[in-house]
Amino acid sequence: MDLEVLNGLLRPKSIAVIGASNKKGKIGYTVVENLIESQYQGAVYPINPREAEVQGFKSYPSVLDVPGDIDAAVMVVPAKFSVQVTEECGQKGVKGLIIIASGFSEVGRKDLEEQVVKTAHRYGMRVLGPNIVGILSNSDDCNASFAPFLPLPGKAALVSQSGALLIAMDASTYTRRVGFDKLVSIGNMSDVNFADMVEWLGQDETTACISLYIEGLKDGRRFMKNALNTSKPIIALKSGVSAHGAAAAASHTGSLAGAGQIYDAAFEQAGVVRASDLNNLFDRTLALSLQPPMRGDNMLVITNGGGVGVLATDAAERFGVPLRFAPEEVQTELKKHMPEFGSAKNPVDLTGMAGRDWYQHSVQYAFAHNWVNGLVVLYCETAMTDPMDIAQGIEEAVRLSGITDKPITVSFVGGEKSDTAMRWLVEHGIPAYDGPDIAVNAMAALREYARNKELANMEGPRFSDVDEEAARAIIAKARENGCCNLTEIESKKVFKTYGLPVARTEMATSEDEAVRLAEEIGYPIVMKIMSPDILHKSDAGGVKVNVKTSAEVHEFYREILKNAQAYKADARIQGVAIQEMAPWATEVIIGSVNDPTFGPSVMFGLGGIFVEILKDVTFRVAPVSPDQAFKMLEDIKAGAILAGARGEAPKDRQALAEVLSRYSQMITDLGDEIAETDANPVLVYEEGEGAIVVDARIILKEHRA
Ligand code: COA
Repeated sequence: MDLEVLNGLLRPKSIAVIGASNKKGKIGYTVVENLIESQYQGAVYPINPREAEVQGFKSYPSVLDVPGDIDAAVMVVPAKFSVQVTEECGQKGVKGLIIIASGFSEVGRKDLEEQVVKTAHRYGMRVLGPNIVGILSNSDDCNASFAPFLPLPGKAALVSQSGALLIAMDASTYTRRVGFDKLVSIGNMSDVNFADMVEWLGQDETTACISLYIEGLKDGRRFMKNALNTSKPIIALKSGVSAHGAAAAASHTGSLAGAGQIYDAAFEQAGVVRASDLNNLFDRTLALSLQPPMRGDNMLVITNGGGVGVLATDAAERFGVPLRFAPEEVQTELKKHMPEFGSAKNPVDLTGMAGRDWYQHSVQYAFAHNWVNGLVVLYCETAMTDPMDIAQGIEEAVRLSGITDKPITVSFVGGEKSDTAMRWLVEHGIPAYDGPDIAVNAMAALREYARNKELANMEGPRFSDVDEEAARAIIAKARENGCCNLTEIESKKVFKTYGLPVARTEMATSEDEAVRLAEEIGYPIVMKIMSPDILHKSDAGGVKVNVKTSAEVHEFYREILKNAQAYKADARIQGVAIQEMAPWATEVIIGSVNDPTFGPSVMFGLGGIFVEILKDVTFRVAPVSPDQAFKMLEDIKAGAILAGARGEAPKDRQALAEVLSRYSQMITDLGDEIAETDANPVLVYEEGEGAIVVDARIILKEHRA
């Protein structure tokens, strides 16, 4: 990362506005007006060939006429002038371009966009946009955009791919009381993309939390790497996850939205917290920008009302942080400051009689107790208590506890007084929400952040006993024959080079050879037709299982060939595969895709109805370590079956995790060749007895990448 250049672009000390205008209602007018109104302290240079002065600033015909240095140039001239203007900025030594103008890749002019970026890079400049609103920064008093005003000050930075949404969120920072230091519109991402922004914001001292609105990433792997390297929480709202939504996002930004499930996986692997919608993005950003992560599973809820307590309990389960009872000693202490009919379990119900003292005592004690990893404090406005009094009690308790590495969230349910009290809490660093479920959801975000970060660091060593060269040789040979689909036998050979346990399978081109191979492998065996023209072998009558004698081999060999011919007269027949018949066991499916955003990704699910009807599968961007693979086995709803549900013996999950991990290494290493693969089924035996790939398929990319 060229820090100096990006600092110049994103925290400029001097700004040229190319297309600055004296005509109210034009974007070139608003940008200059906004710089004035935000009290920007750096130099402002309006560029306009027809004006001597723009809104009180001396104007220049070109950036080349400006006497001082220019960090950033905001471009508000029509797209057709962009290349020439970029060239001039380059000659001037401008560091970065903020291209507000539309009319580039989003309307099919990718060529123009590429020309601008190429020109900019020739001079070492970076480009933000085009097709953006601009940048806003409270700590720099800089509104270099046509958004109405600087956002409510805070510690988060928002990067948005949608300009309109950024403008809308700008205004709502005030109504929602969620503060941001920076808003950055990223638009077409012709050059600076999310990966760059995460890297830059990661080191920016005025940013505590990185909040993203994403329609589609351009460089998924780099984004993941940079997110992993960032010590600040990142929260992402990804739109376009539905099939229809994905199409809308693609036409809107000119970029492709990836499949929802792989995004889910990639974010989790990169330690990125998800937001489910705009409200959720605000709520979670508030918590992540004000509070430390929740580093364990124990969340305690303190309330003065049973109803909100139950709502919080439900929400806790829904958002993945289910409540557990606090240990006896915690309950005993909490009991001291509540009436007989209160409850010290979890939620802790101080009852409607609770005033500031009871709140303060319970919060201070609970917050400091080792068992508690996160505290949610709820309050229903009563006639007997003053919300501000309670708020101050909570804040004082937190402060006096001396604990700073543990999170707290609050919800007050009531009227104006509760609202005022919650504002006060937020101003004092305690996120407060008007619903108990929202306070719990915010705490869940803090837990998700800590959990994702722990998992994200689990990347293990590679398997060294693999033979990539041999795998490539098998693929090259298949390509020589003009093939894009490897046969089952070839696929299995490739699998074996990565140490994957495959059911032995050999090709027989005559009846005698079939018998010889069957005897070598040992009965019973499976026989299958081998033809590039017959994909659904069973439908073609091309499979025989449990073949037990040489007489049967002879008989079935002829029968299979006859069936194949009847099924498709001109099918090219390579022979009949003779395969070891593995004893039946729990069936799982492993698959892979080469995702356009994240590259090779691995899928796992249980066979049969679990995959086909329930779609109970999980994805990871490859490669995954055996530990991460083990987590995949637990991720699916049917995971309990592998762990040994309903009296069944537990399955060999260690062996299966190793298979997944090796497989993920194979699809990563050979990612330039392989489009898709699957191992279906893989049979998993009881603990200690391993797993075996029964059928394997590799589809190559049309052209090597
Ligand atoms: N250098 C400097 N100034 C130039 C120039 C050049 N090479 N060429 C033209 N100008 C001046 C014009 O004379 C004009 O000044 P004036 O107001 O004093 O007449 C000013 O720059 C703007 O040019 P103009 O041709 O009037 O364009 P415009 O203001 O109508 O529109 C854009 C310019 C960039 C705003 C418009 O093309 C556009 O892209 N709008 C969409 C912006 C948007 O929505 N972005 C995405 C948000 S999500």
